[in-house]
Amino acid sequence: MLSTSATDELQQKLIRQSPIGIFDSGVGGLSVLRHIRQQLPDEALCYFADAGFAPYGDKPESVITERTLLIAQFLIGRGVKALVVACNTATAAAIKLLRAQFPELILIGVEPGVKPAARLSHTGCVGVLATSSTLASSKYQALCAQVQRTTQIRFIHQACPGLADLIERGELNTPATMQLLETYLRPMLQAGADTIVLGCTHYPFVEETIRRIAASHLLQQVELVDTGLAVARQLQRLLTEQHKLSQPGHQSPPLQFYTSGTPEKLTLALQQLLNIAPTDYSAQKMFAI
Ligand code: DGL
Repeated sequence: MLSTSATDELQQKLIRQSPIGIFDSGVGGLSVLRHIRQQLPDEALCYFADAGFAPYGDKPESVITERTLLIAQFLIGRGVKALVVACNTATAAAIKLLRAQFPELILIGVEPGVKPAARLSHTGCVGVLATSSTLASSKYQALCAQVQRTTQIRFIHQACPGLADLIERGELNTPATMQLLETYLRPMLQAGADTIVLGCTHYPFVEETIRRIAASHLLQQVELVDTGLAVARQLQRLLTEQHKLSQPGHQSPPLQFYTSGTPEKLTLALQQLLNIAPTDYSAQKMFAI
C-alpha cells in the first residue's frame, strides 16, 4: 500500500498532467489558445467550440449563461485543472456564476482591454469593438465607468453584428469582411481614435484587415489591443502559485478539440487560423451538449 505522502504526491502529479480547458462560442477562443500554447508549451489543452450555438453576441444573457454552465460542466468532467472562458460575451454573462459554482477551480475570463487601451492612447479617444451583448452587460459598463473615473478617455463603442459569423466562415479579408469592418471602423477613426480594443476573441483574426482599413484612413499608427497574452500570463501565474504547472515531457502534450458544430469546419479553422494539422490533435463532435 502507498503511504499518505506517496498518495499525495501521485495525486499532485495527476493534477499537474491534467489539461487546461478553454472554450468559446466558436473559433474565437483559438486567438487565446495560441498564446497559451506559446506561453505554456508543456500543457495539455482541451478546447470546446460551441459552434452549433454561435454566435453568442446577439443571444439573450440567459441563453449564454446556460450554454456556459453546460460547457464548463462538460470540461470539468474531462478533468481540467483550470478553465479559461475565452469569450468576452460568456465572461460578461456568466463568470460570476461560474466562480460561485466552482470555487476551487482556477477560472479565468476575458474582458475588453479598455484599461491598457486608456494607457496607450495619445489622442484620448479609444474605439471598442465587441458584441452587442458584451457592450450591454453590467460587467462591461462597470469596467468602463471605473476607467472613466480616473482618466479623461473618450470611448467610442461599436457592436459588430455579423463579424464573428464571417470569421467563423474563414472570411478574414474578403470584400464582405472589408466592407463590414469599414462600416464599423469609420466612425471611431473619424472621431480620432488611435487605439482600438478588440473586445471579442474572434477579432484578432482580422487584425491585418483592420490595420489596412486604418491605413486607408491615413492613420498608420493605430494600436490594436488584444488581451490574449495577458490571459495566458495570468493562467501561468495561477498555475505556478498553486504548483499545478505541467512538467516538461518527451512528447508534445495532447491537444483535444470538441465542437457542438461540424468537426470538419473546426479542422479547417485550425489549419487556417493556427496552422495546426489534423495529425496533431483529436477532434470530436459533442452531440450531448
Ligand atoms: N468570441 C466571442 C467573444 O469574445 C463572441 C463571438 C460571438 O459568438 O458572438 O465575445
